Amino acid sequence: MSDDNVSAEQPTTWTGPRKKWVPVVVLVAVAVASVALTWLLTTIFDHKQESKAPFTQVTELNDTTYDPAVWGQNFPIQYEGYKATIKDTDGDFIKVEPTTEDPREYHTLSRIDMETRAQHMWRGYAFAVDYTEPRGHEWALLDQMYTKRTDEQFKQPGTCLNCHASMPEVYDKLGNGDRKAGFDAMNKLSYREAVQHASSSIACIDCHDPKTMELTITRPAFMEGIKRAKAAEGIQDFDVNRDATNQEMRSYVCAQCHVEYYFAGEGKTLTFPWKNGLTVYDAMAYYDEVGWTDFEHAESKAPVLKAQHPDFETWSQSIHAQNGVTCADCHMAYNREGAAKTSNHQIMSPMASEEAINSSCLTCHHSTATEMKERVAGIQGRWQDTLNVSFTALDALINDITKAEADKTATPEQLTAARDYQRKAQFVIDYSFSENGRGFHAPAYSISILNQATDWARSGQLVLRGVDVQNGVQPAMAEQHMPTGGR
Ligand code: HEC
Ligand code: HEC
Ligand code: HEC
Ligand code: HEC
Ligand code: HEC
Repeated sequence: MSDDNVSAEQPTTWTGPRKKWVPVVVLVAVAVASVALTWLLTTIFDHKQESKAPFTQVTELNDTTYDPAVWGQNFPIQYEGYKATIKDTDGDFIKVEPTTEDPREYHTLSRIDMETRAQHMWRGYAFAVDYTEPRGHEWALLDQMYTKRTDEQFKQPGTCLNCHASMPEVYDKLGNGDRKAGFDAMNKLSYREAVQHASSSIACIDCHDPKTMELTITRPAFMEGIKRAKAAEGIQDFDVNRDATNQEMRSYVCAQCHVEYYFAGEGKTLTFPWKNGLTVYDAMAYYDEVGWTDFEHAESKAPVLKAQHPDFETWSQSIHAQNGVTCADCHMAYNREGAAKTSNHQIMSPMASEEAINSSCLTCHHSTATEMKERVAGIQGRWQDTLNVSFTALDALINDITKAEADKTATPEQLTAARDYQRKAQFVIDYSFSENGRGFHAPAYSISILNQATDWARSGQLVLRGVDVQNGVQPAMAEQHMPTGGR
């Protein structure tokens, strides 16, 4: 895995973007915190004050320098890391025979084969046909083009492309230089038409302003989504590229894609369900308000939702987020070359190697790689156990509803109530299953929502048996909002 041999050639004329700075709250927190916490936060602080690796500007970059290879002339180390996202770092690639329909030489492990109850919960929807482990960014475009989920029968819209290709070029082309107009135009195309306009997977220009190299948000859906989420916190008119701190941006660039979403209205507009806030219950309440349903379950006929990779939302409920620890701190940790440092652009699991653990976790935690590995395994194991219980309950509910209807043992009201419980339980279970930290990003939160889901699934079974369970009680968590994106 991580063998991005960082080259030592670093000419010395330019010193990288100036930092917008660390919010006052962090400093206040330091003042009141325990010694251990002070140490952690001080480390975070120091971390950010160090100088960036200097480099020589070989080529001038501007708003239409789309090709990452050109950026690579100025930033060879970041470019090398970026290209390395093509590698198998998790051991989940499987070699396959390329065909004309699917020329990929490697797939990744199937998550529906490994968890057949997930396949059951998605019957009636494209995810029951194909759903695999994710891999590095270099694969994003190819994996979307060749997944069975973009086969003709599923009629996917251009909207899919938003998170799987380098978009500035596509938006510019379709909107004649007006990126928001390009976004609207692309969403309405068919996927097959839209993908013709893409020339690269996720690239430098998707996360960086070419003139200043500062982090920048290029996705209209995130600009709108975060504005709504901030408004729910009482912050009006949030313009992410104007108002976000550099610290927030270190998570927000990822949150352009690693989030739950749906395609709203006739325009198939990519939309994040954040009007009420960032918890799973906020999202569910939003979908209920707008009357959204992704599909009808093929067996139970429940009107259900599909959740997708809510990595950012889940992280936002964590202790790490509360302490201002960002996605980049763990997934793009600094590599050092003497006094200079660069962010590791081979974005992958921080647990992929001892070296990766050392450069991420151990910059803050006084520990060893082995101990960090054990802590993560422990957290993920408990999450897996909890998920197991939830899946068992959901599976049983789906079977009970299907059978009760076939055998005519339940009234229409009982069936409706039970299907509503399926909708709720399934959304939460899907949400946690589709989240990519496997319980790590927010351990306590993840267990808590799964417990709620199990209760909902079992309540659905009771309703079918004529037991009067209290319907529609919202869990207490729904009232507890964490600030968006930590600090
Ligand atoms: C909001 C951003 C976003 C949109 C829109 C989006 N994706 Fe993705 N997609 C991701 C992210 C992030 C991952 C990696 C994380 C994961 O797999 O959970 C991913 C992973 C995938 C994968 C590989 C893993 C898997 O799911 O089998 C496929 C295939 C895929 N997406 C297809 C699609 C299709 C088809 C659409 C349109 C219906 C779509 N994506 C729309 C963000 C998005
Ligand atoms: C433009 C959308 C987009 C952005 C921005 C983005 N990702 Fe991804 N990410 C994806 C997609 C899509 C995949 C899955 C690709 C596949 O499986 O083919 C993915 C995969 C990953 C993976 C899985 C890698 C592996 O080896 O399994 C990690 C980790 C990841 N992203 C983290 C991040 C982090 C951290 C950021 C921000 C610094 C980020 N991503 C920004 C879309 C995005
Ligand atoms: C405190 C460290 C930390 C932070 C902060 C963090 N992650 Fe992670 N992330 C992890 C760990 C640990 C895993 C589990 C890796 C594993 O199981 O191999 C993980 C897993 C992932 C994966 C799946 C990787 C894979 O190889 O399958 C993705 C995608 C991801 N994180 C995205 C994000 C995004 C996006 C953010 C910010 C919103 C974020 N992470 C914040 C530590 C972190
Ligand atoms: C998914 C988002 C993402 C993509 C794609 C991306 N970067 Fe970055 N890059 C980051 C983040 C996050 C940082 C840390 C910035 C900070 O903290 O100010 C960073 C930092 C940098 C820096 C500052 C020095 C350093 O290493 O910390 C340079 C230079 C850079 N990136 C170049 C590139 C180049 C060249 C490419 C394309 C080959 C690229 N980046 C692609 C997210 C991205
Ligand atoms: C930038 C600093 C930083 C990095 C990097 C970091 N952490 Fe943390 N971590 C913290 C802070 C701060 C806390 C909260 C400590 C407290 O409140 O006592 C924390 C808490 C935790 C907790 C307890 C969480 C809980 O919900 O109870 C675990 C487990 C953890 N970290 C594991 C990791 C792992 C694994 C990595 C690497 C993948 C990592 N951390 C990377 C700063 C960091």
